[in-house]
Amino acid sequence: MNKQRIGILTGGGDCAGINPAIKWIVKTALDKRLASERNIQYEIIGIRNGWQGLVDKDMTSPDAQGCIVPLTEVQVRTWDRYGGTNLGTSRTNPYNPQNDQSKVLIENLEKLDLHTLIVIGGDDTLGVASKLSREGVNIVGIPKTIDKDLPGTDYTLGFETAMNVIVEGVDRLRTTAGSHQRTFVVETMGRKSGWLALEGGASSGAYIILIPEYDFSIERVKELVLEGRRSGARYDIIIVAEGAKPVGGIEFVRNESVDGFGHKPLSGVADFGARGLNERTGLETRSMVLSHLQRGGVPCAYDRRMGRYFGIAAADLVVMKDFGKMVSYRRGEITAIPIEDALRGPCLVDVETEYDIERYNGRRTILRRSK
Ligand code: F6P
Repeated sequence: MNKQRIGILTGGGDCAGINPAIKWIVKTALDKRLASERNIQYEIIGIRNGWQGLVDKDMTSPDAQGCIVPLTEVQVRTWDRYGGTNLGTSRTNPYNPQNDQSKVLIENLEKLDLHTLIVIGGDDTLGVASKLSREGVNIVGIPKTIDKDLPGTDYTLGFETAMNVIVEGVDRLRTTAGSHQRTFVVETMGRKSGWLALEGGASSGAYIILIPEYDFSIERVKELVLEGRRSGARYDIIIVAEGAKPVGGIEFVRNESVDGFGHKPLSGVADFGARGLNERTGLETRSMVLSHLQRGGVPCAYDRRMGRYFGIAAADLVVMKDFGKMVSYRRGEITAIPIEDALRGPCLVDVETEYDIERYNGRRTILRRSK
């Protein structure tokens, strides 16, 4: 029987759904019945801490052992119940122009004698994967990011669990907001895309939703809040995406630091909104930043299921030798697309069809959407 070695790597922001995907890659690739059908016996290793694990050390040196972990069916048996990534992750960019480590990366891949590398990531991690694929490395991708901003797939692992965190957070805020008649401005993640805010706001029934794709006027937000109060609301829940900005303004950044892929950490818009509303309405207004809670916790049922399907499909691509592809979920089907197609992003909310610019909320027409 032929023997081949597969590597699995997780990069970028962690989220729920990654561990279930790893479990199902391993279980599918190592399944004995399938192995005898295809006449290939796979061996699987996990690479620790994303791309960092492949550039930190020379893979032939004895201290490089900590960068890899053999994965067996027994070892991953319970992984679908755990959030985050058990392999660890990083925002290391081996192709960072300020510190290009791509040569070491490729040498290490050769030293590890990997037949295929399965990469679980968002646009940054998959961007590196696509470059490697062009260099001749056999790559398979799995999409994950709570931002759900990758084109070419209707789902990215982690999104639904993050939705549940938003809903639970808002449910908790509602009781205290109501008791005190307060307005809460709740900041969600999402970078330049408004999916977490828009769909999290829709799921939690937020009164106002502010997204990066449409600059908001704080005066208009004030009018809406006062209108709501006149019609009997005791409190308000406003969801704002971290990348949203006021008309004429710029994104709010937590500080000026930049990661290996050129991103600044976003945050501060909820505070801005709460202060602005308090000054304009006189209503007691507080801000709340959900931050990394959205990435934490155990995967919800949907992420366990999608992790399973994406993991199995990734193993299928390896068996089919269909490299340079990312598994994807489109129109209700698990499929695969060229990795490059997932990099033509970010996939943003289409304001014309999804967003009501008068109400600052999701559209209240679904079947009659104009396009
Ligand atoms: O891309 C996922 C994400 O959670 C974004 O929504 C957010 O802006 C960013 O990662 C935060 O990254 P970090 O964990 O490095 O602060």
